[in-house]
Amino acid sequence: MQQSALTLAKEGAQDWWEVEALYDLCFAPGRSALSSYRLRDGVDPIADLCLTARDDAGILAGAVRNWPVRVGSQTAVLLGPIAVHPTRQGEGVASLLMQACLTQAKASGWDRIMLVGDAPYYGRFGFTQLEGVLMPPPTNPQRVLGLALQDGAWDGVTGPVTAWHD
Ligand SMILES: CC(C)(COP(=O)(O)OP(=O)(O)OC[C@H]1O[C@@H](n2cnc3c(N)ncnc32)[C@H](O)[C@@H]1OP(=O)(O)O)[C@@H](O)C(=O)NCCC(=O)NCCS
Repeated sequence: MQQSALTLAKEGAQDWWEVEALYDLCFAPGRSALSSYRLRDGVDPIADLCLTARDDAGILAGAVRNWPVRVGSQTAVLLGPIAVHPTRQGEGVASLLMQACLTQAKASGWDRIMLVGDAPYYGRFGFTQLEGVLMPPPTNPQRVLGLALQDGAWDGVTGPVTAWHD
């Protein structure tokens, strides 16, 4: 089956509720109770790392947002939430969004990026488990993953992950 082309764009104010609806559809109810949301409360996302993927009819296929956080005395990008509409999963939409995020984060001067997710999936983008990087509980440490955007950028970076404004 031929798939319609996808267009990636920075999320605008007009996209907000559509992206929220996609996240509500794709994640379990109560997603905002997750510990990672406490790191996002009251902090603006990184605008140039919030992306939508729309098909040629303008229908939202997937979206990703990113927030700035602190890890010990350093800074990092906290990737996510990322979600793809159930009718578009398995077509590489998340891969497109991930690659675009990683390229843009590097271009914007970020040194390191992290997320809470499944290592078997995010390993394909180069993410590995971060030792000594402590997300607010309850978080399974095996799901705390990171990727250096500059060589060695995670070396020696440990400590609690805290909100940007703390
Ligand atoms: C996870 C998600 C974003 C992937 O989006 P997608 O566009 O389907 O992903 P892609 O098409 O780029 O990649 C699909 C591949 O990833 C694999 N995959 C998807 N989720 C996976 C997971 N949790 N663990 C391991 N592999 C996974 C698929 O099996 C498929 O494998 P293949 O390439 O060998 O066929 C999407 O399934 C989704 O929105 N899920 C619900 C929300 C969610 O869980 N978000 C991530 C929170 S950490």
